[in-house]
Amino acid sequence: MMRNKDRYFVCVPMFVCLVLAIELVLGQDFKPTDKILLNCGGPAVSTDPDGREWTTDNGSKFGSKTGKSTTSQAATQDPAVPQVPFMTARIFQSPYTYSFPVASGWKFLRLYFYSASYSGLNISDARFGVTAQSYTVLRNFSVLETSLGLNYEYIVKEYSIHVDEGTLNVTFTPSTSASKAYAFVNGIEVVSMPDIYTSTDASPLTVGTNTVFTIDNTTALENVYRVNVGGNDISPSHDTGMFRSWTDDVRYIFGAAFGVTETADPEVKFEYPPGTPSYIAPKDVYLTARSMGPNANISLNFNLTWIFSVDSGFSYLVRLHFCEGTTTISKINQRVFDIYLGNQTAQDGADVIAWAENFNLPHSNGVPVHQDYVVYAPSGSPQQDLWLALHPDTASKSNYYDAILNGVEIFKISDSKGNLAGTNPPPLLVQDLIDVSLARKSSHGKSKSHTGIIAGGVGGGVVLLLLIGLFAFGTSRRRRNGKDSSTSEGPSGWLPLSLYDSKGKKELDAGYDGNVTDSKSSGMSMSIGGRSLASEDSDGLTPSAVFSQIMNPKGR
Ligand SMILES: *[C@@H]1O[C@H](CO)[C@@H](O)[C@H](O)[C@H]1NC(C)=O
Ligand SMILES: *[C@@H]1O[C@H](CO)[C@@H](O)[C@H](O)[C@H]1NC(C)=O
Ligand SMILES: *[C@@H]1O[C@H](CO)[C@@H](O)[C@H](O)[C@H]1NC(C)=O
Ligand SMILES: *[C@@H]1O[C@H](CO)[C@@H](O)[C@H](O)[C@H]1NC(C)=O
Ligand SMILES: *[C@@H]1O[C@H](CO)[C@@H](O)[C@H](O)[C@H]1NC(C)=O
Ligand SMILES: *[C@@H]1O[C@H](CO)[C@@H](O)[C@H](O)[C@H]1NC(C)=O
Ligand SMILES: *[C@@H]1O[C@H](CO)[C@@H](O)[C@H](O)[C@H]1NC(C)=O
Ligand SMILES: *[C@@H]1O[C@H](CO)[C@@H](O)[C@H](O)[C@H]1NC(C)=O
Repeated sequence: MMRNKDRYFVCVPMFVCLVLAIELVLGQDFKPTDKILLNCGGPAVSTDPDGREWTTDNGSKFGSKTGKSTTSQAATQDPAVPQVPFMTARIFQSPYTYSFPVASGWKFLRLYFYSASYSGLNISDARFGVTAQSYTVLRNFSVLETSLGLNYEYIVKEYSIHVDEGTLNVTFTPSTSASKAYAFVNGIEVVSMPDIYTSTDASPLTVGTNTVFTIDNTTALENVYRVNVGGNDISPSHDTGMFRSWTDDVRYIFGAAFGVTETADPEVKFEYPPGTPSYIAPKDVYLTARSMGPNANISLNFNLTWIFSVDSGFSYLVRLHFCEGTTTISKINQRVFDIYLGNQTAQDGADVIAWAENFNLPHSNGVPVHQDYVVYAPSGSPQQDLWLALHPDTASKSNYYDAILNGVEIFKISDSKGNLAGTNPPPLLVQDLIDVSLARKSSHGKSKSHTGIIAGGVGGGVVLLLLIGLFAFGTSRRRRNGKDSSTSEGPSGWLPLSLYDSKGKKELDAGYDGNVTDSKSSGMSMSIGGRSLASEDSDGLTPSAVFSQIMNPKGR
């Protein structure tokens, strides 16, 4: 007995030192003060495939004391849809308010919806609005039409809302304009978030104008895309404590010219700069990137382009994440490029090293930076494509004619009336459905890199938990941790999707005669093959030269 106890005293400081060391290297996760996960109508406690624990809203203190509601099981389960929180729902025939007592400050509000029949109700009659505080986040919303129109297996909507005093109210109201309309929700998540998206000190410019756009406590944001460019999906529990989900970028890339992916050199020291919290984005986002490729002649002849379908009539906050991760690029004017948003110049002469040098660290590669832009999507048809394009900045005469991007976050900004709601998408064309089902197959078969998962998963908190777990329970605990990391990397892993994300929705399939088909969400299917491959004759670039850069990506 004594010997064991002695060992404890030796072990404790060792573990503490190890934990501290790892935390210093990997950075701190954000620790949310409020963390509420309600599995509406579900069992007392349940765990989702990402390992997060949800509680029922049956008789919960958050539910309405007066409002009427019922609960139900989904009549059917798509194999791709997780049991928790999607297989049970709470149904409202009249307005119903959840009141969440929370600390004042910024909150993520996430709403989970699965299109199925509940309690014999017809899902096409589910049509409703949702408000959060004074903001309208959904209006005349049809889960069925949204799922069909964008080919989603399920829908996760994420909002950032500032709560001034004590309570976050979320109200579901069946549409009054449709007979038999009802409302429902499968899951509700409320998580504190740090103030990382407002911009009172350095406001972004509106692209195409020189006007500053202020995002403050009175603005509500809806995240519509969160993309780990050149990398893999990152599940909520592998985010930096805020449970954001990040998707890979392949489904958004335009055309056949999709550049090359880069992974940071291990010898480049990775360091968040002073003033940038390490939870701004997972390290994994910064360790992978997409660039145009090593051949300047090719890079000069195309734009590295991503296309994001957005609701018209709103302004969007576009946050771009960058990090030069190679030893080759460590000085100013080595890789300089222009950034276009909505076909307008958002940034002339972007130089990631120059941005990083502002922090006066001993090195400027391996330093993550981000830049914010606001772009307005003019009114018109309900949805439109937002183009994000990069091109080498030739005027700078930089060493390499190339461009780089590590991550993208796109937020819809509430309008002057506090509205974030768009309109339901039109139904998909039949051809789209065929393309998408093919694409989905390929996305499920995609293999994932293990290093990414390890870097993302071994955040300080996880390590701390693991070590405490090991310490307290011995080796039996080890097995569970192994399982945790494997569930998150597998293709069946938990991938909550924001409105415009879906597993395999926008996958590029190069097969068919080297044609690349982009099965897009906007209701049109595009076959791109001729465009970027055949139009470069002026520079003597043969299609095969272009294709070899695309298909045989090699770092420099
Ligand atoms: C929640 O309530 C419904 C009925 O309203 C019931 O069927 C279900 O079993 C309850 N769940 C729990 C965990 O009590
Ligand atoms: C926003 O809210 C925070 C506290 O929640 C407060 O400290 C800050 O002053 C507010 N900013 C504005 C512009 O109102
Ligand atoms: C549900 O409603 C739609 C539209 O009103 C109708 O076409 C469909 O047949 C209904 N489904 C069932 C099962 O009643
Ligand atoms: C939230 O709802 C409760 C009850 O409906 C109400 O008393 C309270 O004033 C509301 N709070 C806010 C901030 O809207
Ligand atoms: C790029 O084009 C120039 C002029 O056409 C040629 O001299 C050079 O070899 C080309 N470089 C590569 C890498 O193809
Ligand atoms: C890149 O995009 C910009 C903005 O839309 C456009 O002006 C330019 O012509 C494009 N360049 C190429 C090579 O496609
Ligand atoms: C941007 O340019 C592309 C390609 O030229 C075009 O298809 C698209 O409609 C343009 N978008 C806008 C908003 O002008
Ligand atoms: C609600 O949306 C449907 C399409 O989803 C549309 O036909 C209808 O006109 C809309 N109703 C209102 C009141 O906006």
